[in-house]
Amino acid sequence: MSIFVLNWKMQKRYKDSILWIKEHNADLIELLNYLEKIIICPSFDSLASIKELVDLKIDIGAQDCSEFEFGAYTGQVSVLSLKDIGCKYCIVGHSESINSNNNIKDKILVLLKNSIIPIICISENRSDLLNSIINLLINYNLKSEIYIAYEPLYAIGSGLIPVISELSTIINDIKNNILKALPNLDLRILYGGSVHYKNIELFKDIKNLDGFLLGNSSLDFQLLKKTVLLFSR
Ligand code: PGA
Repeated sequence: MSIFVLNWKMQKRYKDSILWIKEHNADLIELLNYLEKIIICPSFDSLASIKELVDLKIDIGAQDCSEFEFGAYTGQVSVLSLKDIGCKYCIVGHSESINSNNNIKDKILVLLKNSIIPIICISENRSDLLNSIINLLINYNLKSEIYIAYEPLYAIGSGLIPVISELSTIINDIKNNILKALPNLDLRILYGGSVHYKNIELFKDIKNLDGFLLGNSSLDFQLLKKTVLLFSR
């Protein structure tokens, strides 16, 4: 069974996010018959309200966080607040948010310190980042889960997906590289970038894939449901 992360980006205003959750709470539980986990990542403004409204079986994640716990950092959001809200996950290093490799490493550290599971996005040109994350995790006595989302830049929002056999090799390589260095790590590998009900069945051939990070396909519940059902049949 797979993990579906719903990255709503800034595609829903507050009012619409709340309505969506109120309308689809029961539907989401129904989808859990087919999935291991659903993690909803709304924008910061609606995180706390959604956490209160959504069924406890559905997990909540943030789309980013500050690398600092608190201080004079205008516009940033602290992991301490995410923790207070009850966020269990946080996306880090998405290509639509601006980050240096050092920022990403600092964000991962502050999340781990506060027991929030990072969903680390890696694009095709960030193999250096993957190596430095492996080193960081070796140095950090990690007891938490780690999610890696492989998201090629060209695939995000474009309707294009990688050749499945090539993607399968990349997913295997990422998993093997990390597990070689950290054999006991509870590692989950996701794919993100233009996943849609029209192409989701192609991904069934990738054995080591644990789930998906969905952008556009996560916004409309019927589209999401169709995507989940086609993958699960
Ligand atoms: P997309 O977005 O599914 O709309 O391509 C995925 C992502 O950016 O995480």
